[in-house]
Amino acid sequence: MPPIRLGGIGCGGMAAGVHFPAIQRIPELQLVALCDLDEARLAETADRFRVSHTFVRFEEMLDSGLIDAVSIIGPPSLHVIAGRACLLRQIPFMTEKPLALTVAEATSLADLADQHGDCGQVGFTNRFAPAQRLAWRISRLPEFGPLCFVATTHLTHCRMSPFWDIENGVEAFIHLHGVHAIDLWRFFGGDPVEVSASVAGLRPLGPPHHAYGSILVSVRTSDGPHGTIQMKASASHNGDINADVMGERGRVRVENDQCLTYERGLEWVRQVMGDDVLADTFLTDQPAGQFLGTGNIMHSYWDFFRYEWMAFARTLLAGASFSPSIRDGAKTVCLTDAICASLRAGGAPTPVSF
Ligand SMILES: NC(=O)c1ccc[n+]([C@@H]2O[C@H](COP(=O)([O-])OP(=O)(O)OC[C@H]3O[C@@H](n4cnc5c(N)ncnc54)[C@H](O)[C@@H]3O)[C@@H](O)[C@H]2O)c1
Repeated sequence: MPPIRLGGIGCGGMAAGVHFPAIQRIPELQLVALCDLDEARLAETADRFRVSHTFVRFEEMLDSGLIDAVSIIGPPSLHVIAGRACLLRQIPFMTEKPLALTVAEATSLADLADQHGDCGQVGFTNRFAPAQRLAWRISRLPEFGPLCFVATTHLTHCRMSPFWDIENGVEAFIHLHGVHAIDLWRFFGGDPVEVSASVAGLRPLGPPHHAYGSILVSVRTSDGPHGTIQMKASASHNGDINADVMGERGRVRVENDQCLTYERGLEWVRQVMGDDVLADTFLTDQPAGQFLGTGNIMHSYWDFFRYEWMAFARTLLAGASFSPSIRDGAKTVCLTDAICASLRAGGAPTPVSF
């Protein structure tokens, strides 16, 4: 089968530094065209990745007949306009996060996807970390019991600072970085109905609106788990994304997207130990809830981008639905918006409407 012909919209740092090299390692995908408003960057990227077709206007690339699918890797404003163009033309696409910066833009894309068909995947990279995916599977096992608590954290050295025309450094940080932990919460816990958020330890860093600090969000669903989302900017971390998921009979944790720990109760130990000659000793020595399985699933962060493109290619070839979908991306924007609204309201409980 010939590879999927891919066009790249946006040739900036993430596209040229991370996504295109990942795409080149996937036999099912072939980068055949590129588009960027910055012509010098476009020419340089086309040269580096040996791509012969270049466009300044993405609509021309979409209508060229040269491509089967596209990447959209730019500012959120680009994700919105190019995403809309792809949905209208039903051209499959993978867009970086966040899908949009406002609820209105995000829901209008999701509504368009409902009308025409959802042909987009949103690049929430952490959902493609094998340890997070295994933790998700574990959390859905009958032995895990109903979910009751989910905590996600994003701890990063990236400072809180204005970005994408968002002057409030805390809110810009949430949209740009914190959104990983916000989306991961939805991945495990479902759709919250209410959030309450506070910020602490804000330490200004020179330029206006630049700071280190910690944001804590309390999350509630209607009849599922509750939990927390923490987003922290400080000098001591380097992009850790963690999840702690608890069910009635189990607990699974992922540290730094890689180290997975699964705790189970004594009933499970009893079953597994069976008639082992030392079973009784083991059981009496083993406190309930003790860790029973752990493992490092060592992949580099950069591999997760390759996995998200593998997922994109395989989903497309199978004719299946992308995940996370455009509707998912829109729901994460709604949750992000509610968190910012709660912060502005001094931590007041704020409804999340999807
Ligand atoms: N998944 C992750 O872990 C992760 C990590 C970092 C960044 N990101 C996301 O990656 C995205 C891109 O970040 P970046 O650092 O590469 O940005 P960048 O500013 O380096 O690149 C954006 C590119 O888009 C181009 N562009 C803008 N509007 C355009 C248009 N209308 N048509 C064609 N090209 C257009 C710009 O000219 C620029 O080259 C951001 O949305 C960011 O949130 C994701």
